[in-house]
Amino acid sequence: MFQHVEAYPGDPILSLNEAFGKDPRTNKINLSIGIYFDDAGKIPMLPSVRTAEHKVVADAGARPYLPMEGAANFRTAVQELLFGADSAAVKAGRVVTIQAVGSSGGLKVGGDFIKRYFPTSTMLVSDPTWDNHKAVFEGCGLTVKTYPYYDAATGGLRFDAMIEALKVAEKKSIVLLHACCHNPTGVDLTQEQWQQLVPVLKERELIAFLDLAYQGYGDGIVEDAYAVRLLAEQGLSFFVANSFSKSMSLYGERCGALSVVCPDAAQAVNVLGQMKATIRRNYSNPPLHGGQLVARVLSDPELRPMWEAEVVAMRDRIQLMRRKLHDVLSAKLPGRDFSYFLTQRGMFSYTGLTAEQCDRLKEEFGVYLVRSGRMCIAGLNTGNVEATASAIAAVLA
Ligand code: LMR
Repeated sequence: MFQHVEAYPGDPILSLNEAFGKDPRTNKINLSIGIYFDDAGKIPMLPSVRTAEHKVVADAGARPYLPMEGAANFRTAVQELLFGADSAAVKAGRVVTIQAVGSSGGLKVGGDFIKRYFPTSTMLVSDPTWDNHKAVFEGCGLTVKTYPYYDAATGGLRFDAMIEALKVAEKKSIVLLHACCHNPTGVDLTQEQWQQLVPVLKERELIAFLDLAYQGYGDGIVEDAYAVRLLAEQGLSFFVANSFSKSMSLYGERCGALSVVCPDAAQAVNVLGQMKATIRRNYSNPPLHGGQLVARVLSDPELRPMWEAEVVAMRDRIQLMRRKLHDVLSAKLPGRDFSYFLTQRGMFSYTGLTAEQCDRLKEEFGVYLVRSGRMCIAGLNTGNVEATASAIAAVLA
C-alpha cells in the first residue's frame, strides 16, 4: 500500500538537532537550532513566565475550545506589542490578529489565505532565508522565488540589488521580509533602508509578509518592531507573523500570531472572517495554555517589566558571546576578518563555512552548525566558546 512513499531526507535544522541529541560525546556543542541557551547551556524558564504560569494555573477553570481566531486577551496584547499602544491602524480597526501555532502556524495560515485570494501571486523570499519558508509556502501551493539579499563578499546586505529586483517584481507579489534578526544571516535592513523600501512596495503594489520571530534579540523589543510600525504608519496593507518561542523561551508551547493590516475596518472584518475559515480548515482552533502565559506576561504590570529585563539579559549575553568568539578567532587566525560576528544581529551568524567544513566540525569536533554555515550564537557559552573557536580555526586552517 505504501511502497510509493519515498524516504524523508530529514529537515536541515530539526534533523540535525535530533542528531545532536543522539551524539554520545559529552563535549558536543549545539549551534544548530535557533534556541536560546543560557550560560550553563540550558533552555531557560524565564522567571516572568514561571510566575505567569502559577497565576494562570491558579485561575484556571474549565477548558472550553478557544474561538477559531484565538483568545481575545492574547490577540489584544499582541497588537499592542507589535504596533504600539497608540497605533492609529489598530485604533481604526484596520488590524486583524489571530493566535497561531507558533509563527510557523501564522505563515501557514497566511500562505493558505494568500493562495486563495491572490492565487497568481508569487512569494519572494530573501536569498538565503530560513530553510522552512520555502517548504511552508510551497506547501500552501504558492510559487516561491528569491530576491538578492546576502552579500557573501562583505557579510552584509545587497540592498541595491534587492531594491532593483523588487522594482521589477510582478505587481501584487508577496515579499517575505525578516523584520529583525534575519535568519539565517543575521544581516538586517537599517531603519533608513526600511524607509527606502516603502515607496517600492507602494509603487509595485507588493504585499509585504513580515516574519518577526526574534523580537527583542536585535536592538530591543520596540526597536525590533520598527518595520511593522513603519509599514502600518505608511498605510500599507501587509501581513506579520510573530512568535514568542524565543522571546519568552516558550518553544514547545507554540505561541505565535498572524496580523494582517488592511486598508479599512470593513475589509478587516472580512479578512478576519476568512482567516477563521482558514484556521477551521487547518486545525479548528488554537491551544489555550501557552497563549494565556503570554497574555499574562504582557499585560501584568509586575511581570511585563520583569520580562523586558530578561530579554535584555538574553540579548546582552549573545552580544558577549559574539565579542568573545570574534576575539578568540581573530587571535587564532590573525589574517582573517571575523568582524561579521560583531555586526550581524540576533541569534544567528552566517559564517561562510562550507557544508564540508560544517561536516568536519560535527564529525571531528562535535560542533553542530547547519550545513549552510549558519551558527546559532545563542548556543555558545563561557564553557564552550574557546573550544568552538579552536574547532573553527582547525577547519579553516
Ligand atoms: C531555527 O531556525 O533554527 C528555528 O526557527 C527552529 C526551526 O523551527 O527551524
